[in-house]
Amino acid sequence: MEFKVNLSVEIAEIKFSNPLLLSEGPLTGSAELIRRAAQHSIGGIVTKSIRQQKALSPNPYMISYGKGLLNADWTDMGFDAWCRELRQLEIPMPLITNVATNHVPPKQAAEFASILQDCGASLVTFSDYEPENLIQAVSHARKNVKVPIMVKLPPFLPKVGNICKRLEDVGVNCIAAMDAVGPGLDIDIETGKPVLGSIDGGGYLSGAPIFPLSLFYIAEICKNVSVPVVGVGGVTNYKDVLKMIMAGATGVGIVTGAILKGLGLFDEIEKDLVTYLQERKINNLSEIRGKLHTHLADREEHFSWRPHVDQYRCNGCGLCSRSCFKGAISIADSTAKINLDMCSGCGVCATVCGRRSIK
Ligand SMILES: Cc1cc2nc3c(=O)[nH]c(=O)nc-3n(C[C@H](O)[C@H](O)[C@H](O)COP(=O)(O)O)c2cc1C
Repeated sequence: MEFKVNLSVEIAEIKFSNPLLLSEGPLTGSAELIRRAAQHSIGGIVTKSIRQQKALSPNPYMISYGKGLLNADWTDMGFDAWCRELRQLEIPMPLITNVATNHVPPKQAAEFASILQDCGASLVTFSDYEPENLIQAVSHARKNVKVPIMVKLPPFLPKVGNICKRLEDVGVNCIAAMDAVGPGLDIDIETGKPVLGSIDGGGYLSGAPIFPLSLFYIAEICKNVSVPVVGVGGVTNYKDVLKMIMAGATGVGIVTGAILKGLGLFDEIEKDLVTYLQERKINNLSEIRGKLHTHLADREEHFSWRPHVDQYRCNGCGLCSRSCFKGAISIADSTAKINLDMCSGCGVCATVCGRRSIK
């Protein structure tokens, strides 16, 4: 008989069929786009940031960069149009509305949130690169908003634990992190002009390149909070989702992965999560949530670990020897040979080997 797994999670007493959220971005910029997304295996959907007035982004406002994106996207239809559209919207998963307090002052953002809950939001969220605005927005919203209140933090806040504690003190119900990283710049080397259309050429980096940064940040946040956490930033496959959950997240948000790979990514990740859990006889994600922290508690440092080459797997491709900064690896008779006297155990050879022939 097939082993049964349950992917559902609860965030602030709201049930999600799986931990995957489609986070704020161009895929959720209107009710029509949200309806389209809702046909996929998504636990919950977060609107693009809602502003008071309609806003357009100068072209181009989203360019691929490495395996991620640089964006200067502040497109929005404006608050009144959103309210009209959301009142007509019915989707089978929780809808979360976002107001960015860098565009709408905190007190007004809280008033917007209160109206948005009446338009059907199951949760409301605020995002900003300035954490003080988020604290103020939550504190104002707490007076009138009955649905759970989330925030999405910017990257790299120093002493992020202190900010989280202050957010909890003013009544936040869930903390998401993180927003895209920036500003960053790209230049067309034929013309010397910025590639993005924003006035200073600046944009924000998202997608796979930022994943290790957001993962560490989520682990740090999870150490400090008692409310549920949503990990966002660079998630592009089921392994990233599992890592976020092992770092302590309850929900996992995705934007860039779904722009670059299509919304079918959610269906693929859900399927892969079920297979991973079934193969390991894990019934529920709570069994692995925060697993990282139990390891960190009794972690030891090692200085004498050295690599070992599986001669049968190695095909002598030379990737490891090219990446060995010590020059300790040579290729002879179609296999890698490691001079252990020269090796310092940095680990890069084992991770670049596509055949996993170095342990
Ligand atoms: C094109 C684009 C537009 C975005 N717009 C918003 C937005 O309106 N409000 C917001 O809070 N975050 C916005 N984000 C940030 C994402 O919600 C997310 O925090 C960030 O991109 C990291 O996740 P990812 O790597 O999965 O994209 C946007 C991201 C992208 C790529």
